[in-house]
Amino acid sequence: MGIFNSNTKLKILFVTSEEAPFAKAGGLGEVMFSLPRALNELGHDARVMAPRYAGIEVRSHGAFNMVLENLAVPTAPENKGKELFCNVWKYDQTSDPKSPVTSYFLENQEYYELRSNIYGYVDDHLRFALLSRGCLEFLNDSRDWLPDIIVAADWMTGFLPNFLKTDYKDYVRLRPIATVFSIHNLAMQGIKHKYIAEMDRDDGYGPVPDFFSPRMQKINALRRGIRYADVVNTVSPTYASEIMAEEFGEGLDALLRERRSRVFGILNGIDYETNDPASDPFVEKKFTARSLAKRLENKLALQKRFGLPEDKNIFVAGVVSRLTKQKGFDLFSGVIDQFLKISNGQLIVLGSGDGNFMDYFQALEKKFPDQVRAHLQFDETLPHLVYAGSDVILIPSYYEPSGLTQMEAMRFGAVPVARKVGGLADSITDFSPETGIGDGFLFGEYDPNAFLVSLTRAFTNWRHKESWKKLQKQAMGKDFSWITSAREYEKIFVRASEIRKEENKKEATG
Ligand code: GLC
Repeated sequence: MGIFNSNTKLKILFVTSEEAPFAKAGGLGEVMFSLPRALNELGHDARVMAPRYAGIEVRSHGAFNMVLENLAVPTAPENKGKELFCNVWKYDQTSDPKSPVTSYFLENQEYYELRSNIYGYVDDHLRFALLSRGCLEFLNDSRDWLPDIIVAADWMTGFLPNFLKTDYKDYVRLRPIATVFSIHNLAMQGIKHKYIAEMDRDDGYGPVPDFFSPRMQKINALRRGIRYADVVNTVSPTYASEIMAEEFGEGLDALLRERRSRVFGILNGIDYETNDPASDPFVEKKFTARSLAKRLENKLALQKRFGLPEDKNIFVAGVVSRLTKQKGFDLFSGVIDQFLKISNGQLIVLGSGDGNFMDYFQALEKKFPDQVRAHLQFDETLPHLVYAGSDVILIPSYYEPSGLTQMEAMRFGAVPVARKVGGLADSITDFSPETGIGDGFLFGEYDPNAFLVSLTRAFTNWRHKESWKKLQKQAMGKDFSWITSAREYEKIFVRASEIRKEENKKEATG
C-alpha cells in the first residue's frame, strides 16, 4: 500500500520562470497559476517560487512581505567562488477567488530586477541557475515551511533536481524532498545544442560548473532535470510518447526511453474561474451553451473592434498564438489565400513572435483588407473576445506538448481546427457529421493541403446551422477543468515520494 490516502495533504512547491498573472510569456505561466490552485482545492498546500522581475510590483502591494534578506547563494561547486545576494518576498494568497496561490519571489537586482523581460538575455543560463540554487538555499534557511515535493518546470529549473542530488545531498533538512521535473517544451533546452559540437555536448553527468565559467553556456539543464528528478512528467499523454522517438525527441529521446518507467503524461487543464463565457469581463455579451444566440453579439463586437465588415453570416476564423514555427504557421502561405477567396470568410490573428510570420500576416492583411486583421502584440483584453466571437480557431501546430488555446476556445464555443499531435490529439475529437460525435476538426499530415481540407470541412459543416450548434455545445461541455488532471498529479507526487524514500533508505544503509 502506498503512503497516500485521500487524507494525505501534500506540501508542493512549483519552481518556475513564469507564473501568471505576475510574469507570463506563454502557457507555462498559465499552468503555474492554475495547477497549484487546483491542487489546493483538493486540500493540498501548493505554492510557487519565481524570480522577482522588474514588472512584479512588490513594494506597493499589501499582499507582499519580505521574508528573507541577504540570502547568500553560492555559484560554484563546493561553495567556492562568488556568492550572489538575494532577498525573498512572499505573496500571501488573498480571499479574491482569482488570487494566485501563496508565492515566493527571489529578488536579485542585477539578474532579475534590472531586466524587464523574462527571457532573451545572454546570461539566461546563469539567471535561472540562480533561481534553482537560490530556492534550495532559501528552503534550507527558512524555518517556516518545507515542501514534500518540488516541481521544477522546463530547462530553466533543470539544475534544481541536479543540485539537490549532488551539491545539496548532505543537507539533512532538504533530503526528504522528492522532485518532479515537468516538461512543457522539450525543444527549449537553454542552449543551442544543435550548434555545439558532438564531443562538447553535456552528457548530464559531472558537477554543475561555476555559473560564470564559459562551460556553463554548454550545459544542458533540461537533460539534467530529466536525469536527476525522481519523476518526470510532460503535459499530455501523446506528447509523452512522442518525445521518446527521434522526431520530437530533440536529442533526448534515448535518455527518456531509459527513464521510461518514471516518465508520465498528464494533460493540462484550464482555470474555469477565469475562462467562463457566463462571467467573462472581456466578452461583449455573456452567454452559456444554452444561450448560443447571444454569442453572435460577440461576433459583431469582434468584427467592429477589428474594423471588419459586421455581419453574423460571415465565417470568422481566429488565431491566438505565439507566432513561431512550432505553432505551424508555415502551413498558411499557399492555402489561406485560396480559402479566403472561396469562403469570403474573415481571419483575425492575435499574437506576436517571429519576424517572418509577423511580416507574413501583415502582408496578408494588406492583400485582403476586408477579410484579414493581424493584431501583432499582446493585449490581455482580446483573446477571450476572439474566442467568443470566432466560429473556428486555427491551431495547425507542428508539435504541441499540450496546448491551452484549444481548451479555452472550446469553452467559449469556438471550434478548433487543429493538427492531430501532442495535447491537441488528446483534447479534441474529430467531428463526424454522420454520427454527430466530435468537437473539432483534426488533420494528421503536416502538410498545407491537409490543413486546407480540414478547414474546408469546418466551413462546410458551419453552414449547417443546427448540427454546428450541437458541435459547439459538445465543445463547450467538454471537461477541461484542472481537478481531473490535479488528481493525476497526486499520483505522480506519491510515486516521486516513494522513490525518494526508497533511495534515501538505500543510501542510509548502503
Ligand atoms: C508550452 C507548450 C504548450 C503547453 C504549455 C503549457 O508552452 O508549447 O503546448 O500548453 O507549455 O504546458
